[in-house]
Amino acid sequence: MTEKELGKKMGMDMQEQGKWWKSAVIYQIYPRSFADSNGDGIGDLQGIISKLDYLGNLGIDAIWLSPVCKSPQDDNGYDISDYRDIDPMFGTLEDMEELIREAGKRKIRIIMDLVLNHSSDEHEWFVEAKKGRDNPYHDYYVWRDGNGDSQDGGKRMPPNDMKAAFGGSAWEWVPEVQQYYFHQFSVKQPDLNWENPKLRREIYDLINWWIQKGVGGFRLDVIDQIAKEPDRRITNNGPRLHEFLRELSRETFQKADLVTVGEAWGATTELARLYSNPDNSELSMVFQFEHICLDQIKGKEKWDLAPLPFLKLKEVFGRWQTELYGKGWNSLFWNNHDLPRIVSRWGNDGQYRVESAKMLAILLHGMQGTPYIYQGEELGMTNAAYEIGEYRDIETVNLYRERLEKGYAKEEVMRSIHAKSRDNARTPMQWNDGENAGFTDGEPWILVNPNYREINAARQVDDGDSVFGCYKELIRLRKKYPVFTEGRFQMLLAEDRNLFAYTREEGETRLLVVCNFYGQTVECPLGETMETMELLLGNYKETERMEVLRPYEARMYLGKM
Ligand code: GLC
Ligand code: CA
Repeated sequence: MTEKELGKKMGMDMQEQGKWWKSAVIYQIYPRSFADSNGDGIGDLQGIISKLDYLGNLGIDAIWLSPVCKSPQDDNGYDISDYRDIDPMFGTLEDMEELIREAGKRKIRIIMDLVLNHSSDEHEWFVEAKKGRDNPYHDYYVWRDGNGDSQDGGKRMPPNDMKAAFGGSAWEWVPEVQQYYFHQFSVKQPDLNWENPKLRREIYDLINWWIQKGVGGFRLDVIDQIAKEPDRRITNNGPRLHEFLRELSRETFQKADLVTVGEAWGATTELARLYSNPDNSELSMVFQFEHICLDQIKGKEKWDLAPLPFLKLKEVFGRWQTELYGKGWNSLFWNNHDLPRIVSRWGNDGQYRVESAKMLAILLHGMQGTPYIYQGEELGMTNAAYEIGEYRDIETVNLYRERLEKGYAKEEVMRSIHAKSRDNARTPMQWNDGENAGFTDGEPWILVNPNYREINAARQVDDGDSVFGCYKELIRLRKKYPVFTEGRFQMLLAEDRNLFAYTREEGETRLLVVCNFYGQTVECPLGETMETMELLLGNYKETERMEVLRPYEARMYLGKM
């Protein structure tokens, strides 16, 4: 069946047709931690190619590949020095073409990570830009004169006190041009100046170049930050953001059948309806973080830990489900390369690791949107608690230094790092119980989580009762029943302090998801409803009493209206 025919069958209107990504499941790969093919301790493209059958078995439709372009790796590839080449650490352009081809044979599309808010300071544009104010590339970046009197060498004070995400000032002085450049992330990630039409043209050209190579789509890194106005301290959601996005989409994405997903930390449902307008004028979907930022002290940083407000979590999910229905499209995720492992974070990575990992999967995958699985999530991989010397992430390393300087106790800082460090997600993929979890024959660039002997792919792939088995089944169900893609969401038991329950309704079909979010056994008032429905999936074997939900128990039912 062609996509069009399938679309018709599922009762979609013309505009909806071809939107394959609505019923797709996307798997994110962080290449340096996935699979190493040549023993240098760093994952690479050939490593990924060798695992495509594993992904085919899981059943995913697309791979979001974190950046593999040429990069000094100051921020693990989110600092690109050549957008049209592959970093030698990961392989060659031929390897990339092979990956696209081999994935295609398994009906898996490759989604590239486009880092367009900034480049590396080693990109030739920036190397040129630094040469002089009249260099044609100077205006590709965001420059300002300093403030106050000039000191030795002409240096003046920074234009303002804006801070960079990875610590320190957002302004860096360049003596050659006697100006500061703006960087929202590290000093090696100068912000690109989207106000410049020539820069925008260069970006469209490189995107079209990748489209020609056959990629299936793009993930747009911190896309809400491209339209900055540092003089007014505007970083996210600048006034010209959606104008830029519409032009970008028109000049590139709209020419092909792609999926595009915008990382937007500060999106509201209202903004998300612009980004993911069904008329296709901007992007396919947003990737926003409202639900996943709830366990921090309000107004503070992610390191300032607070317990998860469960009722608020339900409110947030419910609001996104309802307010985007028919008007936009959302991503469904618990994890990515910037977030700690969900089973350690909001599940239980001890006694109930398997049950809670499955519960979180069932809870998420029953909702509307495109689910993302981050490598190892399908195995129930956990956080790692290392000594500070074992961390590699620039954000973690800087945070540690800064907080100690500010007088925080070491134990407190380490508690934050163990809970929230991005390296929790970046420990090597656990393939088997052999040396280095089967990730590499060499010395891994970051320590393998010692629990790999118990938690690894080899133990799970053939076991239907494993976490892997649960994810595989969720993907299969999503393909089988249109209610997963189209059904209208309704939250149930919104005030219940333990249960997360909702329905999805489409035509005659109703889906019911009931999850016990915590480790105590609880009674569920939906027992009678459950009696009348067919159990599609659960995380416990026998059910004696319908109305009792055991620790982290989750059930998914199908029924008629
Ligand atoms: C995004 C990426 C993150 C990166 C940052 C700067 O948030 O997901 O890994 O450090 O942008 O590019
Ligand atoms: Ca390698």
